[in-house]
Amino acid sequence: MSIDLTLDGAVATITINRPERRNAMDAEHYAGLSTAWVEVRDNPAIRAAIVTGAGDKAFSAGADLKSFTAHAPSLAELMLTQQGQLLNRGLEVWKPVVAAVNGACLGGGMTLLLATDIRVAARHATFSVSEVRRGLFPANGGTQRLVQQLPHAIAMELLLTGDSIDAATAERWGLVNRVVETDEVMAVALDYARRIAENAPLAVQAAKELALRSRDVDLAAGLRLEQLMLRLLQTSDDAREGAAAFAEKRAPRFTGA
Ligand code: COA
Repeated sequence: MSIDLTLDGAVATITINRPERRNAMDAEHYAGLSTAWVEVRDNPAIRAAIVTGAGDKAFSAGADLKSFTAHAPSLAELMLTQQGQLLNRGLEVWKPVVAAVNGACLGGGMTLLLATDIRVAARHATFSVSEVRRGLFPANGGTQRLVQQLPHAIAMELLLTGDSIDAATAERWGLVNRVVETDEVMAVALDYARRIAENAPLAVQAAKELALRSRDVDLAAGLRLEQLMLRLLQTSDDAREGAAAFAEKRAPRFTGA
């Protein structure tokens, strides 16, 4: 049992490696996941990341029900808002994240999924936020991002019933980008991540940051932020390289500077 982080070129893969518990996460796994996201954010060699679960039964069955509910954090811990930040709770990771969903994606697995940018799912994958069936609700962004990312009635149905949807339904509602055969999930996720990693890193990160911040700022402020960010990027080596490569009819060599 562990959180594994491997590097393949500029693509990092984070694997929740606890298949015997369907990749459910206890405190130790959440801490490991937090460390892995910080590494993705801070390591300049990483340009894109994939997150997946070990085995082919589950992406993640969410919080470890056998340890979590019995150990609610103290009020003092609750005030440590910057501790153990996650992709879906507090940590700002502008490098793109691709989810490779290889099975059941439940509860905390779903709230993690909702914080990723591109999602590839196996045909047998299922999706649910079943917390209300266990006396809880999907925190770590579940109540917030579900209604942002799905039509209202669909999001509320999932949130309030705890019902599960299959991969074809998830694809129809745009919760996932692609549904593929189980043995193709990682290859398709890697293809997305590699193609993103070939693009100019600063431009990719700026595009992601602006897109996600658009939910929090009004259009006028968003348009202005775009202008300012674009002006900054225009002075980058990679913007010059992009134009030069086009003029010279060759592939660009981006450095992230
Ligand atoms: N927390 C702790 N243990 C979990 C778990 C979770 N969230 N999800 C699965 N496990 C454990 C099971 O208890 C079982 O342990 P055991 O072998 O000691 O009995 C083992 O993982 C395998 O689970 P099992 O239910 O036999 O596998 P499955 O493939 O038939 O079903 C799930 C997989 C994910 C559909 C099912 O385990 C499930 O519904 N889990 C609960 C998920 C949930 O409600 N999450 C919301 C968290 S608030």
